[in-house]
Amino acid sequence: MNKNVKPLRIAGVGYCVPDTVITNDDLTKLYDTSDEWIFTRTGIKERRIVSGNENAVDLGLKAAQNALGKSNIKVEDIDCVIAASSAPPQLYPSLACQIQAGLDIPNHIPAFDMTAACSGLIYALQVARGFIGSGLYKNILLVAADNNSRLVDWEDRGTSILFGDGAGAMVVTEAEDGIDDILSLDIKSDGKIGQYIYMNLPGKNCPLVEPCDEVDAKIHMAGRDVYKFVVTTLPDFIDECVKNSGLTAEEIDYLIPHQANQRIIEAMQSRLKYSDEKVISNIKYYGNTSAASIPIALVEGVQKGKIKLGSTALLCGFGAGMTWGGAVLRLREGIC
Ligand code: UT7
Repeated sequence: MNKNVKPLRIAGVGYCVPDTVITNDDLTKLYDTSDEWIFTRTGIKERRIVSGNENAVDLGLKAAQNALGKSNIKVEDIDCVIAASSAPPQLYPSLACQIQAGLDIPNHIPAFDMTAACSGLIYALQVARGFIGSGLYKNILLVAADNNSRLVDWEDRGTSILFGDGAGAMVVTEAEDGIDDILSLDIKSDGKIGQYIYMNLPGKNCPLVEPCDEVDAKIHMAGRDVYKFVVTTLPDFIDECVKNSGLTAEEIDYLIPHQANQRIIEAMQSRLKYSDEKVISNIKYYGNTSAASIPIALVEGVQKGKIKLGSTALLCGFGAGMTWGGAVLRLREGIC
């Protein structure tokens, strides 16, 4: 690494999911489906969704508080908030600004959202790495939070079975000991296949001009195309992430993949030749929580004793855009 680039330490990670559980059996009240169909195709049994006025900001705030608590970094020392959100409650004010307000961060620091859908946390980590590496900011709060359940079409059984709501957060800081927790990190996109997953914003043309076609503001997904794209692209990509880390796949302790489909997770597992113990999957209980899925899997994995800290992990995400990203990270003791 260039000696002028400052190394990054992951100081704390947290998550929050809503209390309300919707099972596959519950979904049979909405459309013709079955627990067996959903579980076999996706590995999902249930998901958590927001209820009443609860939203992604509430979840993001709790995740951020958890991550800050682990980091020992004070709220007033945070000098940038980046939120990765593709299904926020409002387009603006940004989710990051609402987190800044909710945490009562006293300083006028920058706070902004970035949209990279389910790859969002890895994208945000790359941006934070650039900021910390250059010395521009020192302590950055990353929040990945979505309330997908408000934006899916609950009449579309091909899409609404997959998503759940949740939030993850990560506090990153300059590593004073000189040890960089990012062993490799890369982000990619292919906008030419953007229509595989899209969500319009509602709106009409000015009444003085020709009207535009009416759009619906729901999540649309060509599931089979996404599936094919991911299983043909991701295995080679993760090979590259491993190679760039300077470690071998065997030397990396865990795979913490985006939780989108158990069969996609297994495709990555098989490329890495990992035993089940090295692969963190909790999709069964949360479905696809977009950018939050990786931090939720990480923290819950530690809490359940599946992940031992003082280890390394390969993180890999993909989503609308299409975007994808991967990172090999050092997971220090005490981060969650
Ligand atoms: O982070 C975002 C990333 N997104 C993903 O990773 C999604 C990746 N894709 C997938 O996970 C899968 O494509 C799905 C699980 C979404 C769908 O599985 P599939 O095997 O690709 O099913 P399909 O969409 O090709 O549909 C097969 C059949 C269809 O019936 P016909 O036309 O063959 O009669 C669907 O109408 O299954 C039917 N179907 C269902 N049946 C029962 C679709 N959804 C359901 C359902 N229950 N929920």
